[in-house]
Amino acid sequence: MARYAVITGASSGIGLEMAKLLSKMGYGTVLVARRKERLEKIAGQLPTKAIPFPADISKEEDRERLLAFTDRLNVEVFVNNAGFGDCGSFVTTSLEKEKDMIDVNVTAVHVLTKGMLQRFMKKDRGYILNVASSAGLFPGGPYMATYYATKAYVVSLTRALSQEVRESKRNVYIGALCPGPVDTEFNRVAEVEFALPGISARSCAAYAIRQMFRRQVIIIPSFPLRVGASLMRLAPTPVLLAVVGSHQKRKLYGRKSKE
Ligand SMILES: NC(=O)c1ccc[n+]([C@@H]2O[C@H](COP(=O)([O-])OP(=O)(O)OC[C@H]3O[C@@H](n4cnc5c(N)ncnc54)[C@H](OP(=O)(O)O)[C@@H]3O)[C@@H](O)[C@H]2O)c1
Repeated sequence: MARYAVITGASSGIGLEMAKLLSKMGYGTVLVARRKERLEKIAGQLPTKAIPFPADISKEEDRERLLAFTDRLNVEVFVNNAGFGDCGSFVTTSLEKEKDMIDVNVTAVHVLTKGMLQRFMKKDRGYILNVASSAGLFPGGPYMATYYATKAYVVSLTRALSQEVRESKRNVYIGALCPGPVDTEFNRVAEVEFALPGISARSCAAYAIRQMFRRQVIIIPSFPLRVGASLMRLAPTPVLLAVVGSHQKRKLYGRKSKE
């Protein structure tokens, strides 16, 4: 029976690279995102069976449709990757965009994780990888506050569930990928520029998949960031908030040139 990997946000960036790698490993794929034509084109280029599944996962009916569809398949890997960010002072950023961000980055991850984890626990098999961010490891992110908060939710939920799964002694994995900057379409959507150079989506996805199969719970795909994440535990919260805030302010369009 064919094994499937389901990847949300498979139309670009990290999700697209994960789909390519998992397909190369022999998995059939279910490619989830809103841009139908892109998904169809990608599906035609993958070496194993690939099913384009156009869906807007901010919508409850699309999440239910995805869970119902995947119930008919032998799903072994589920990657909650779709997500986006926004930047700016909280009092000026768009509430509509933030509500949409919470629906995609938090509600969809929560609902789809619950649906898939229930199945995997019953089958005693399966991998869930939630794409969070290094943002989720910080105490907060001034000037990108909602995005940081959504990713902190993903990290916290994943850590807790990994403990529940461990205690259940089931052969199930759940982990969180926490990248720093990665060169994808993320910046165009968030309307920002990175203050630090990004790694490639390909290397991020390859590291993530390798560590997922090694069952690492928190996956940080770059060495300096792994060191930074360890040192961060020693720094006082007000210092971290000030450093992150000034870093995020520099990302905003036009800021660099004015300073
Ligand atoms: N790039 C970075 O620096 C970075 C760093 C840390 C974490 N991350 C996280 O990595 C994940 C992937 O982002 P990326 O960097 O690869 O950015 P990306 O190239 O913009 O990809 C985002 C993906 O999410 C999909 N998506 C967005 N909203 C959706 C919705 N409502 N329904 C279904 N699909 C939706 C997009 O597809 P459609 O537009 O076709 O729907 C696209 O495939 C995100 O969760 C992001 O927060 C990125």
